[in-house]
Amino acid sequence: MRLAVFLSGRGSNFAAIHQAIAEKRLHAEIVAVISNRADAPGIARARQLGLPAHVIDNRDSASREAHEQRIAEVLREARPDFIALAGYMRLLSATFIASYRNRIVNIHPSLLPAFPGVDAQAQAIAHGVKISGCTVHFVDELLDSGPIIVQHAVEVLDDDTAETLSARILEQEHEAYVEALQILSTGRFRIEGRRVLQT
Ligand code: GRF
Repeated sequence: MRLAVFLSGRGSNFAAIHQAIAEKRLHAEIVAVISNRADAPGIARARQLGLPAHVIDNRDSASREAHEQRIAEVLREARPDFIALAGYMRLLSATFIASYRNRIVNIHPSLLPAFPGVDAQAQAIAHGVKISGCTVHFVDELLDSGPIIVQHAVEVLDDDTAETLSARILEQEHEAYVEALQILSTGRFRIEGRRVLQT
Protein backbone atom coordinates (compact mmCIF):
# COMPACT_ATOMS: atom_id res chain seq x y z
CA MET A 1 0.00 0.00 0.00
CA ARG A 2 1.38 3.37 -1.01
CA LEU A 3 0.49 5.86 1.71
CA ALA A 4 0.54 9.65 1.86
CA VAL A 5 0.32 11.29 5.30
CA PHE A 6 -1.01 14.82 5.79
CA LEU A 7 -0.19 16.59 9.07
CA SER A 8 -0.08 20.06 10.60
CA GLY A 9 1.65 19.58 13.94
CA ARG A 10 3.25 17.16 16.38
CA GLY A 11 2.98 14.12 14.14
CA SER A 12 2.85 11.38 16.76
CA ASN A 13 0.32 9.39 14.72
CA PHE A 14 2.58 9.72 11.68
CA ALA A 15 5.54 8.50 13.79
CA ALA A 16 3.50 5.53 15.05
CA ILE A 17 2.55 4.60 11.47
CA HIS A 18 6.16 4.89 10.37
CA GLN A 19 7.34 2.72 13.28
CA ALA A 20 4.74 0.05 12.52
CA ILE A 21 5.98 -0.06 8.93
CA ALA A 22 9.61 -0.30 10.09
CA GLU A 23 8.62 -3.18 12.40
CA LYS A 24 6.68 -4.85 9.59
CA ARG A 25 3.43 -4.73 11.55
CA LEU A 26 2.00 -2.63 8.73
CA HIS A 27 2.62 -3.49 5.11
CA ALA A 28 2.88 -0.07 3.56
CA GLU A 29 5.26 2.48 2.14
CA ILE A 30 5.06 6.18 2.98
CA VAL A 31 5.36 7.88 -0.42
CA ALA A 32 4.73 11.45 0.75
CA VAL A 33 4.39 13.42 3.97
CA ILE A 34 2.65 16.73 3.40
CA SER A 35 2.37 19.54 5.95
CA ASN A 36 0.62 22.87 5.52
CA ARG A 37 2.90 24.25 8.24
CA ALA A 38 6.66 24.66 7.82
CA ASP A 39 7.14 24.58 11.61
CA ALA A 40 5.24 21.32 12.20
CA PRO A 41 7.44 18.98 14.28
CA GLY A 42 5.98 16.12 12.25
CA ILE A 43 7.50 17.36 8.99
CA ALA A 44 10.91 17.79 10.64
CA ARG A 45 10.64 14.19 11.81
CA ALA A 46 9.72 13.04 8.29
CA ARG A 47 12.84 14.73 6.92
CA GLN A 48 15.03 13.15 9.62
CA LEU A 49 13.62 9.79 8.64
CA GLY A 50 14.54 10.45 5.02
CA LEU A 51 10.95 10.36 3.81
CA PRO A 52 9.66 12.52 0.93
CA ALA A 53 8.55 15.55 2.98
CA HIS A 54 6.68 18.49 1.45
CA VAL A 55 5.66 21.76 3.05
CA ILE A 56 2.73 23.21 1.14
CA ASP A 57 1.69 26.24 3.14
CA ASN A 58 -1.94 27.15 2.58
CA ARG A 59 -1.08 30.79 3.25
CA ASP A 60 0.98 30.84 0.05
CA SER A 61 -2.12 30.09 -2.02
CA ALA A 62 -4.93 32.49 -2.79
CA SER A 63 -7.70 29.95 -2.28
CA ARG A 64 -8.41 26.46 -0.94
CA GLU A 65 -8.61 25.25 -4.54
CA ALA A 66 -5.20 26.69 -5.41
CA HIS A 67 -3.67 25.09 -2.30
CA GLU A 68 -5.21 21.73 -3.13
CA GLN A 69 -3.95 22.03 -6.72
CA ARG A 70 -0.42 22.17 -5.33
CA ILE A 71 -1.11 19.16 -3.13
CA ALA A 72 -2.59 17.30 -6.09
CA GLU A 73 0.60 17.89 -8.10
CA VAL A 74 2.69 16.25 -5.39
CA LEU A 75 0.22 13.36 -5.19
CA ARG A 76 0.27 12.81 -8.93
CA GLU A 77 3.99 12.06 -8.61
CA ALA A 78 3.70 10.09 -5.36
CA ARG A 79 0.72 7.99 -6.50
CA PRO A 80 -0.64 7.01 -3.05
CA ASP A 81 -3.32 4.34 -2.72
CA PHE A 82 -4.52 5.99 0.49
CA ILE A 83 -4.13 9.34 2.24
CA ALA A 84 -3.97 9.30 6.06
CA LEU A 85 -4.88 12.57 7.76
CA ALA A 86 -2.89 12.68 11.00
CA GLY A 87 -3.62 15.92 12.80
CA TYR A 88 -4.16 17.77 9.52
CA MET A 89 -5.91 20.97 10.50
CA ARG A 90 -7.36 21.96 7.12
CA LEU A 91 -10.72 21.03 5.73
CA LEU A 92 -10.51 19.38 2.32
CA SER A 93 -12.85 20.55 -0.43
CA ALA A 94 -15.60 18.32 -1.79
CA THR A 95 -13.74 18.27 -5.11
CA PHE A 96 -10.56 16.96 -3.53
CA ILE A 97 -12.46 14.37 -1.49
CA ALA A 98 -14.34 13.23 -4.58
CA SER A 99 -11.07 12.72 -6.46
CA TYR A 100 -9.91 10.35 -3.69
CA ARG A 101 -13.29 8.81 -2.86
CA ASN A 102 -12.95 6.24 -0.02
CA ARG A 103 -9.19 6.61 -0.13
CA ILE A 104 -8.78 9.34 2.51
CA VAL A 105 -8.89 8.34 6.18
CA ASN A 106 -8.77 10.40 9.36
CA ILE A 107 -8.31 9.81 13.07
CA HIS A 108 -10.43 11.62 15.61
CA PRO A 109 -10.01 11.57 19.41
CA SER A 110 -13.55 10.53 20.35
CA LEU A 111 -15.97 7.71 19.69
CA LEU A 112 -17.75 9.28 16.72
CA PRO A 113 -20.45 10.36 16.14
CA ALA A 114 -19.98 11.79 19.65
CA PHE A 115 -17.94 14.97 19.91
CA PRO A 116 -16.90 15.88 16.37
CA GLY A 117 -14.84 19.01 15.79
CA VAL A 118 -12.15 20.55 17.94
CA ASP A 119 -11.36 19.73 21.58
CA ALA A 120 -13.13 16.38 21.46
CA GLN A 121 -11.48 15.23 24.70
CA ALA A 122 -12.59 18.37 26.61
CA GLN A 123 -16.07 17.97 25.11
CA ALA A 124 -16.19 14.38 26.42
CA ILE A 125 -15.25 15.45 29.95
CA ALA A 126 -17.68 18.37 29.92
CA HIS A 127 -20.48 16.06 28.79
CA GLY A 128 -19.71 13.61 31.58
CA VAL A 129 -19.34 10.49 29.44
CA LYS A 130 -17.71 7.54 31.18
CA ILE A 131 -16.21 6.09 28.01
CA SER A 132 -14.55 7.95 25.16
CA GLY A 133 -11.82 6.86 22.75
CA CYS A 134 -10.78 7.32 19.18
CA THR A 135 -12.13 6.63 15.70
CA VAL A 136 -10.43 5.97 12.37
CA HIS A 137 -12.87 6.69 9.57
CA PHE A 138 -13.10 7.37 5.85
CA VAL A 139 -13.39 11.05 5.03
CA ASP A 140 -16.52 12.33 3.35
CA GLU A 141 -17.74 15.86 2.73
CA LEU A 142 -18.98 16.35 6.30
CA LEU A 143 -16.80 17.06 9.35
CA ASP A 144 -15.57 13.94 11.19
CA SER A 145 -18.15 11.91 9.32
CA GLY A 146 -17.69 8.97 6.96
CA PRO A 147 -17.73 5.19 7.45
CA ILE A 148 -15.92 3.97 10.58
CA ILE A 149 -13.03 1.54 10.15
CA VAL A 150 -11.76 1.06 13.73
CA GLN A 151 -12.66 2.44 17.16
CA HIS A 152 -10.85 1.99 20.48
CA ALA A 153 -12.58 2.80 23.77
CA VAL A 154 -10.89 4.60 26.68
CA GLU A 155 -12.39 4.98 30.15
CA VAL A 156 -12.91 8.54 31.38
CA LEU A 157 -11.74 8.81 35.00
CA ASP A 158 -13.26 11.12 37.59
CA ASP A 159 -10.04 13.08 37.98
CA ASP A 160 -9.26 13.32 34.25
CA THR A 161 -8.37 16.65 32.72
CA ALA A 162 -8.46 17.21 28.96
CA GLU A 163 -4.69 16.64 29.03
CA THR A 164 -4.67 13.34 30.94
CA LEU A 165 -7.56 11.95 28.90
CA SER A 166 -5.92 13.10 25.64
CA ALA A 167 -2.70 11.29 26.58
CA ARG A 168 -4.49 7.98 27.19
CA ILE A 169 -6.59 8.36 24.04
CA LEU A 170 -3.43 9.16 22.05
CA GLU A 171 -1.87 5.81 23.02
CA GLN A 172 -4.95 4.12 21.59
CA GLU A 173 -4.89 6.35 18.49
CA HIS A 174 -1.45 5.03 17.59
CA GLU A 175 -2.67 1.44 17.76
CA ALA A 176 -6.03 2.07 16.11
CA TYR A 177 -4.50 3.92 13.16
CA VAL A 178 -2.08 1.08 12.43
CA GLU A 179 -4.89 -1.46 12.77
CA ALA A 180 -7.13 0.47 10.36
CA LEU A 181 -4.38 0.97 7.79
CA GLN A 182 -3.50 -2.70 7.98
CA ILE A 183 -7.12 -3.53 7.11
CA LEU A 184 -6.95 -1.15 4.13
CA SER A 185 -3.61 -2.57 2.99
CA THR A 186 -5.05 -6.07 2.69
CA GLY A 187 -7.92 -4.79 0.55
CA ARG A 188 -10.12 -7.23 2.42
CA PHE A 189 -12.96 -4.90 3.29
CA ARG A 190 -16.04 -3.48 1.69
CA ILE A 191 -18.13 -0.43 2.43
CA GLU A 192 -21.90 -0.98 2.70
CA GLY A 193 -23.62 2.32 3.33
CA ARG A 194 -22.04 3.61 6.51
CA ARG A 195 -20.58 0.24 7.49
CA VAL A 196 -17.05 -0.98 6.80
CA LEU A 197 -17.10 -4.76 6.77
CA GLN A 198 -14.04 -6.99 6.74
CA THR A 199 -14.15 -9.67 4.09
C1 GRF B 1 -4.72 13.60 17.41
O1 GRF B 1 -5.32 13.69 18.67
C2 GRF B 1 -5.74 13.28 16.35
O2 GRF B 1 -6.76 12.46 16.81
C3 GRF B 1 -6.27 14.62 15.98
O3 GRF B 1 -5.17 15.48 16.02
C4 GRF B 1 -4.20 14.94 16.92
C5 GRF B 1 -2.92 14.80 16.16
O4 GRF B 1 -1.85 14.38 16.97
N1 GRF B 1 -6.93 14.57 14.70
P1 GRF B 1 -0.46 14.03 16.32
O5 GRF B 1 -0.02 15.24 15.50
O6 GRF B 1 -0.63 12.81 15.47
O7 GRF B 1 0.48 13.79 17.47
